[in-house]
Amino acid sequence: MQSATYQTRKGQLETYFDRTAAETWARLTSDAPVSKIRETVRAGRDRMRATLLGYLPDDMTGRTLLDAGCGTGALTIEALRRGARVTAIDISGNLVNVAQERMPTDIDPAMVTWRVGDMLSPELGTFDHVVSMDSLIHYRQSDVVAAISGLAARTRHSIAFTFAPRTPLLTVMYGMGKLFPRSDRSPAIEPLGQNGLRRDLTAAPALSEWQVGRSQRIISGFYTSQAQELAKKVSLG
Ligand SMILES: C[S@@+](CC[C@H](N)C(=O)[O-])C[C@H]1O[C@@H](n2cnc3c(N)ncnc32)[C@H](O)[C@@H]1O
Repeated sequence: MQSATYQTRKGQLETYFDRTAAETWARLTSDAPVSKIRETVRAGRDRMRATLLGYLPDDMTGRTLLDAGCGTGALTIEALRRGARVTAIDISGNLVNVAQERMPTDIDPAMVTWRVGDMLSPELGTFDHVVSMDSLIHYRQSDVVAAISGLAARTRHSIAFTFAPRTPLLTVMYGMGKLFPRSDRSPAIEPLGQNGLRRDLTAAPALSEWQVGRSQRIISGFYTSQAQELAKKVSLG
C-alpha cells in the first residue's frame, strides 16, 4: 500500500513530465542545442548514467533489468547494448513514446518491454537488477525507503538509484527555485541527508538481506545528484 504522499507526488510528476515539461525534457535528453546551463545538466546526467551503469555487470547477457522511471530511455539503450533484457517503465506515456522512437534499429526490439505506469507496481515481476536514475529525487525519504524496500523484494542482485544530496548550495538553489511562478516549476526536489538515508536503508526490515554499497556524488553546474548502490548480501552458508 503506497503512502498518500507518494501518490500525490506521483500525480504531480505525471503532470509535469507528461505535459508541462515533456518537450523540454525530450530536448534535454537529445543532442539538440540547449542553453549553457542545461549543457551542464546534460553533462552531469551523462556522468551519472555512466556511474549507475558502472554498478552493473559489463556483460548483461541473460540478465533482466528494470529501468524504473526510464524517461526517454538513454539508460535502457545502454543496458540493451550490454545484452540485458529490459523492462522500461515511466509514468509519462509521452516520454515512453519518445524512448520508443529513439530505439536504435540495430537493437532487437524483443529485448525490451516498454510500459506506462507506476515503477513500483508488483505486476512488473522480478528482476536481476533495478536502476532508478533521478526518478526518486522528488519523493520524501520515508517514501524512498519504502520504494526501495518494495523493489528489493522483487530483485535478485542489485539496485542502483539516485537521490538529491542535502548540501548548503542546493538548499539555497531550491530556495531560489521557489521564486519562479508555480506553473514553470518542476515538483519540488526532496534533498536527503546521506547519513540519514543510509541509516534508514540499513534499518529497514525489508532490507535486512541487503547491504548499502557504493555511492558517488555528481556535481556539474546546475546538476547535483548522488548515486547509491544496494547489493544483496551473498549467503556464505
Ligand atoms: C528526472 S526524470 C529521469 C528520467 C530517466 N531516468 C533519465 O535519467 O533520463 C524522472 C522520471 O521519473 C518518472 N517517474 C517519477 N515517478 C515515477 C513513478 N512513480 N513511476 C514511474 N515513473 C516515475 C518521471 O515521469 C520522469 O520521467
